[in-house]
Amino acid sequence: LARGAAEADLAGRHVVVSAGGTREPLDPVRYLGNRSSGKQGYALARTAAARGARVTLIAANAALPDPAGVDVVHVGTAVQLREAVLKAAPDADAVVMAAAVADFRPATYAAGKIKKKDGQEPEPIALVRNPDILAEIAGDRARADQVIVGFAAETDDVLANGRAKLERKGCDLLVVNEVGERKTFGAEENEAVVLGADGSETPVPHGPKEALADTVWDLVAPRLGRAAK
Ligand code: CTP
Ligand code: CA
Repeated sequence: LARGAAEADLAGRHVVVSAGGTREPLDPVRYLGNRSSGKQGYALARTAAARGARVTLIAANAALPDPAGVDVVHVGTAVQLREAVLKAAPDADAVVMAAAVADFRPATYAAGKIKKKDGQEPEPIALVRNPDILAEIAGDRARADQVIVGFAAETDDVLANGRAKLERKGCDLLVVNEVGERKTFGAEENEAVVLGADGSETPVPHGPKEALADTVWDLVAPRLGRAAK
């Protein structure tokens, strides 16, 4: 679909997008992180703004400039990301969780730098579960007609795993990427299937992250409730 500033199908809407990857600190100088660049989430924020939406972008550690005309909330950890999402969600027509949220965080934070000791093997790192933000906002909707979108990266049985994850999370749409050696992380391009809770399956051919973002908004727009004006 060709798009210009003329197509403002998200005008009057507020959308919340999370992007990037959380970092879970071990001590003042170290963290557990992941390889999410934030590019897909930032593309979602830019395309939504271009389609007329008011956009809140909750950005976790993405080394990218704040998009023009978008409210950006910077966060570090999964717990901070959850707080920011829960704060923005009640006012949102749609929430898209493109961020890679760490499933676990270190059980303890060392206030001082962890030092090695001569002749001693390192201590194992104990982890605890992080909250599942997507399942929480989908299961306890701030608004009945809110559209909730998740992202999933899978390496095997992509469609079956995606369908099971969509049901487990209770979201309306799940964008499933196949990850491999050079696919997805940090790349400029993406290839995906968007699964709908209504059973729909929308393949998105290999292409720019902007194109996948526009396809997501194409699927979100008709699912939005009547605009509150
Ligand atoms: N997600 C979340 N909170 C978490 C983990 C994931 O909100 N603690 C969101 C992600 O932002 C993404 C979706 O859930 O939109 C799917 O993430 P994924 O890691 O694929 O799902 P998990 O349930 O963590 O499953 P897995 O064990 O495969 O990692
Ligand atoms: Ca996970």
